[in-house]
Amino acid sequence: MERFVVTGGARLAGEVTVTGAKNSVLKLMAASLLAVGRTHLTAVPDILDVTIMSEVLRRLGCTVERADGTVTIDVPEQLGHEADYDLVRRMRASIAVFGPLIARCGEAKVALPGGDAIGSRGLDFHIAGLAKLGAQIDSEHGYLIAKAPRLTGAQVWLDFPSVGATENLLMASVLADGTTTIDNAAREPEIVDLCEFLVQMGAQVQGIGTSTLVVDGVQELSPVEHATVPDRIVAGTWAMAAAMTRGDVLVRGGRAEHLEIALDKLVMAGAVVEPGADGFRVRMDDRPRAVDVVTLPYPGFPTDLQPMVLALNAVADGTAMVTENVFEARWMFVNELTRLGADVRTDGHHAVVRGKDRLSGAPVKAHDIRAGAALVLAGLVADGITEVGDVHHVDRGYEGFVEQLCALGADVRREAAADELPF
Ligand code: UD1
Repeated sequence: MERFVVTGGARLAGEVTVTGAKNSVLKLMAASLLAVGRTHLTAVPDILDVTIMSEVLRRLGCTVERADGTVTIDVPEQLGHEADYDLVRRMRASIAVFGPLIARCGEAKVALPGGDAIGSRGLDFHIAGLAKLGAQIDSEHGYLIAKAPRLTGAQVWLDFPSVGATENLLMASVLADGTTTIDNAAREPEIVDLCEFLVQMGAQVQGIGTSTLVVDGVQELSPVEHATVPDRIVAGTWAMAAAMTRGDVLVRGGRAEHLEIALDKLVMAGAVVEPGADGFRVRMDDRPRAVDVVTLPYPGFPTDLQPMVLALNAVADGTAMVTENVFEARWMFVNELTRLGADVRTDGHHAVVRGKDRLSGAPVKAHDIRAGAALVLAGLVADGITEVGDVHHVDRGYEGFVEQLCALGADVRREAAADELPF
């Protein structure tokens, strides 16, 4: 176990570069299973989740090579259909192989996934949608097991625009017989990236970027080369960090158009945001003003930036209401933030944050990727030292986080956590 040791007080200034999105590349890797041959992905972040997904694909029979910022996946004609139990349990995103495996092999066996501890995160929309396409799905001994010698296009309505369910249905339907319509589909930029990747491979997808996706199944797809869309959550994290520390940061590669509401909130908090040709710049001169935020599926305020905006409000001037509509258990993070002296009350979906002049450094734990990043940001504006434990969560989603923070002037280091008590 490792931890980050953050000494508060620095003002972040300089440039950071954002690479491809974790939440896109993992699905692109899964989608590569749909075509026999070599798929080449670029702008691939060097993060733990990519390592886990590489291993999932290897155990299905693929050859996976990683080099600086790229992944090449060679998919064999004969593909295994059973994803490794322990790997899948470590990362929820591995459920993304379910749809492609059913489409390619006519059957799939995938462990019920693990991942972040941020809510129940059911799979009922995935299962109901795939069943509409003709898959017979059972759950046995901790596995989801699907059989579908042929998938057939169907009309699917999602109760909620689930990112993962939209992706699985897309990846299953591109090789199905006939037309599939996915209504109330998710519209995240990562979904658009997946659609564009599938179209490059030869898939027929209409309505890309809208909540109605229409897929005409084709016989086969071909492997391609594709650059992963930049990570808007990492870009948004840097934007929040700049604003909280009253800094001035150029976020190279960040796409302001993918972060419209989040950046607008920062402007309301008093930041100057300047979109440019190759990213955007965020500058904050004064103490941030409190801003109300409501998380919603894209293009709403992203739930993955909610912990950061909560941390920002914790040191803002005024009182803010933060409403979480996507993941109910994300408030676990609040307990950690209050250890740093933040004044936060939660009730149902709502958190009321009364901004304080300063936070006070303390030992805290990262329960998930985004909570971990937000605790580091809080540590940057806290007096003294904040030790953030369980940072393997942060490593799942942020490439070179400590190095990039230090390059911007922060005082952060990674160290081995002291031995756990033997009882
Ligand atoms: C993805 C992202 C995650 C992000 C989330 C919402 C990846 C690897 N992760 O997660 O970072 O926070 O989108 O933007 O891309 N739900 C059900 N039944 C289902 C599916 C989902 O009830 O079958 C619920 C979930 O419990 C959750 C909500 O729907 O409350 C949203 O989930 P979903 O959009 O599917 O998120 P993920 O794809 O898991």
